[in-house]
Amino acid sequence: MARPDSVTVRAPAKINLELRVGGPRPDGYHELATVFQAVSLADDVTVSSIGGRLDDPVPVTVEGPGAETVPRDEANLAVRAVRLLADRTGVDDGVAVHIRKRIPVAGGMAGGSADAAAALLACDVLWHNGSTRNALRELAAELGSDVPFPLLGGTAIGTGRGEQLTPAISRGSYTWVVATSGQGLSTPSVFAEIDRLRAGRVLPQPRISERLMHAVGGGNAEALGHLMANDLQPAACSLRPDLLQTLEVGEECSVLGAQLCGSGPTVAFLVRDGEHALDVVAAVQAAGVAEGVFTVTGPAHGARVVEGLR
Ligand code: C5P
Repeated sequence: MARPDSVTVRAPAKINLELRVGGPRPDGYHELATVFQAVSLADDVTVSSIGGRLDDPVPVTVEGPGAETVPRDEANLAVRAVRLLADRTGVDDGVAVHIRKRIPVAGGMAGGSADAAAALLACDVLWHNGSTRNALRELAAELGSDVPFPLLGGTAIGTGRGEQLTPAISRGSYTWVVATSGQGLSTPSVFAEIDRLRAGRVLPQPRISERLMHAVGGGNAEALGHLMANDLQPAACSLRPDLLQTLEVGEECSVLGAQLCGSGPTVAFLVRDGEHALDVVAAVQAAGVAEGVFTVTGPAHGARVVEGLR
């Protein structure tokens, strides 16, 4: 079969339904227990053959909201993904990378991680490597704690640094209103702030609530809304007190649940249905507390080829 010239992979953003954070580990990471849900907001990454060997630097182009803040050099997680795959498989045909961003940059929805996951799968297909999903997930874990999940999608429990995944049973579809912030938050600074706020405390092993998993497994959005929790939220709000105002809009609209995505600053509101979503979107816009606001649903597919060889 002829080799395709380019392959495009779509990879989803995530919302953490629950995020429990343990103490700092000797390696500098924190032990986590989290429930990821992939949502219907996704970035597209296209890798195109440009002939020759993987050049230094790999040409990178980015379009979409926040594109100007995405690095074009080796700091780009998608480029690091391409290089890691080349390194491990020995295939290093020259490629250019194009990223079509929809996921907020530095928003806590794992946008950079989704791009890395998409780049891994796209190059694997372009290069006809035929790697298994498990092999790609192992490479993904080397790139970052949140990179394996966008390959899997759906709903899953993450443990360890967040990279060890167990698929979870989820029923029905959930409607979310997502409010983005004009300014990103750095994940390491939020983890440093949680350490500062909890200094001297003895922290239990992080655990996911069984009741929450029961709610998700039963498609009970109301119960999920009550049980949602994010240990990073006080730390993120301590660095960015303005986020409390955004969260308050949810209360005014009687949302089922409201919390930060990961380390923030994006806020996710769990709502009853599409009509309720419209009310919340209007209220967030009227309050003038967010850069952008839109409706998404979850769970959504993991990374998949949308153009090129399938
Ligand atoms: O794994 P990743 O490179 O995405 O993590 C970015 C940063 O977030 C880490 O350097 C660390 O400061 C923090 N982090 C953490 N514990 C985790 C995941 C991330 O402290 N489980």
